[in-house]
Parts: sequence; C-alpha cells; structure tokens
Amino acid sequence: MRRKPFAAWPVFDETERRAVLEVLESRVWGGYSPKVSEFERAFAAFHQAAFGIAAANGTVTLEAALLAAGVGPGDEVIVPPVSFIATATAVSRVGATPVFTDIDAASYNLDPARVADAITPRTRAMIPVHFAGQPADMDALPDLARRYNLVVIEDAAHAHGAAWRGRMAGSFGNFGSFSFQQSKTMTAGEGGILLTSDEALAERARAISNQGRCKGGAWYEHTSLGANYRLTGWQAAVLLAQLARLPAQLNRRARNAAVLDRKLGSTGIVRPPAVDPRVTTHGYYLYVLGLNGSIPRDLFLQALEAEGIPGASAYPHPLYRNAVFDALPHRIEDCPEGERFCRECFWVSHEVLLADESDLDDFVRAVEKIRDGSRELVSAARV
Ligand SMILES: Cc1ncc(COP(=O)(O)O)c(C=O)c1O
Repeated sequence: MRRKPFAAWPVFDETERRAVLEVLESRVWGGYSPKVSEFERAFAAFHQAAFGIAAANGTVTLEAALLAAGVGPGDEVIVPPVSFIATATAVSRVGATPVFTDIDAASYNLDPARVADAITPRTRAMIPVHFAGQPADMDALPDLARRYNLVVIEDAAHAHGAAWRGRMAGSFGNFGSFSFQQSKTMTAGEGGILLTSDEALAERARAISNQGRCKGGAWYEHTSLGANYRLTGWQAAVLLAQLARLPAQLNRRARNAAVLDRKLGSTGIVRPPAVDPRVTTHGYYLYVLGLNGSIPRDLFLQALEAEGIPGASAYPHPLYRNAVFDALPHRIEDCPEGERFCRECFWVSHEVLLADESDLDDFVRAVEKIRDGSRELVSAARV
C-alpha cells in the first residue's frame, strides 16, 4: 500500500506570501482593493473576455449572471444532471425552473441533441458545465442558443484555462462563471468571477454584486436591487499569483494525463477520459474514469483507497435525486447517460496530475492489483 501523499494542494510560495503582506500593509483589505480590479482585468484578458466581475464564490456568480440576464419565475433553464448542486440550485434561487437534460456518453457534458429536444417556449437559458475541465460543445450549444434566442451561462468552475478550438472556456456565452473554492485549479480558499464581453450585462452583474450601485454613482446611491458578493483584496492578491502559475500547471497535468491514459488504458479495467478533438486545452480539474463492469464502482473505490490512492471520488446520484428538488419546480428529461455516469464513473482530483511519473506508476499498479483480485473482491462483497 502506498503511504506517501501525492502533490500537496494548494501550491504556494513566496509570491503568495508577499502578495498577502502587500494587501495587509496597504490597509485596503476589502473589495475596493486595487488588487481586485487588477485581478479582474488579468483573469478576463487571459480568458479572452472584455470584463471580469470578481465575487465571493462560484455560486453567487451563477445567480448574478441569471439575474443580470433577466432570468426568473416562469423561465426554464437547461442544466446537466451531472455537476455540483450549485449549477441547478442557482436556477431555483432566482425563481426559475431547472430542466435536467442528459449528457453525452463520451464527454459527460450536455448533449446538444438532448438539449434541442428539451427546448420549449418557456426555455430562456442554458448552463453548460465544462465538466472536469473539458469544454462542452461550444459549436453546437451556442448555435442552438442563437436559433432559440437563449442566454448561455457557461459554468466554468472546473475549467480555468481550458479552450475549445483555441478559444477560452468562459468566453463563448453571455457569461462565463468560475469558482476559486479550495479544491479548484486556481484557488484563494473561496472566490469566484464572472466573465462577459457585453458591457451592459457586465454593469448589471456588477450592480447586483455590489448593492445595486451603478457606475459612477455615490457610495449611498443604490439604483437597483443588489447584495454584497464582493471578493476581498487578500483573495485577489493570491489569485493573481495563482493565475501566473496556471499555464505551467495546465501543461504538467496534460502531460501526466497522457501518461495515465496510456498506462491505465492498458489495464483493461478502466476507461480513460475521451477528449473531444476540438478541445485544445483540457483543464483537468478532474481526471474522470469509467469502469468496464467487472467490478462495481463503489467496491473499486474502496479497494483503491485501501491501496493508498487518494482523492478518488464520484457523484452518488444525478442532481435531480437530491431531496432539495422535492419542494421546488423542476423538470427531468430522460437522462440514461447521467444515470450511467453516477453508477459507473469516478475521478481523481487534479493534484494527482501534478505528481511525479513514479507516483503515477503507484496509481497504475494499484489498478492492476484490483483488476487481478477483482473476482475475489466481488465474491467477498456478496457474502
Ligand atoms: C460545476 C460547479 N459549479 C459551481 C460551483 C460552485 O462554486 P463555489 O463552491 O465557489 O460556490 C462548483 C463548486 O464547487 C462547481 O463544481
């Protein structure tokens, strides 16, 4: 059994230390710290968007985007069944109706054909999630949105630095929403940002995030309904440093993912991620694997943990099976692929992809050992 941890996360050094100290000594710690606007500009520019609105997390960014786009009661919003809960509950929190629509069997992202089937006269928006860091189909989904006049909010909480045909995730829709929560590939512990290239939408989202203040208005002048979603100076300073590390980390993860694809693929028991050829950069927030059916997923995960491979996880069920929706308007389209995903797939988190190649070999050996003992494991689990 392996006892050594994989790479530590988050990664930081003197740059973050100095950045936090700089904010401390500036005595401007809150959302009006110049570090916040510097980070908004840098993150938006890196992701090829004109405007960035930093926020407290990647949940309120989704809510602000929906509100800024005028989505509310009576509107339907298409979401995938395989995501973090916030993708769907953000829709409910603005009074609209999430419509759970199936994912594609290979990419685990919203399937454009299923989205087309789910559109009704009430559909106002869709929230494609770039699940695990792989961009959703940014040809077909924006096309459908144009055809049916739908708002697109990309949930890019997993997709910092990811790209589709060379264009950055988060820059295709009316809004792109990112999270900087502890586990994400850029983090300040918590945090989020909305990207848009539409100036009017940017101003509305900023007003919603900043107590309804308008551009050029006074501190106590509130022209619309808002709240306080502001990011702090500390977080922005740390995120500037994290952004500088992102390109090298993306490269390292992609190199290690290629090694794992080859070595794990040849074990015959697990199915490495299928990356759409139009994806030019996969964010690899999660390295997602399928199983060939010789061992149940949860038994496999227990065995992997017993071998000392950390960070393996899976969604137990599609989002719509959470009790929260019992009391909320929602619609469930037929989602056989979402159901299959939750039965058969799992992932290891991105810090495993920052490891040395020898660490990766421990992972491969653990999978081979489970494969070789799978018959015994399955029969022992039956008794
Ligand atoms: C796909 C997705 N959307 C939204 C969120 C919400 O982000 P946060 O935790 O920053 O509120 C998360 C994350 O944790 C996520 O994984």
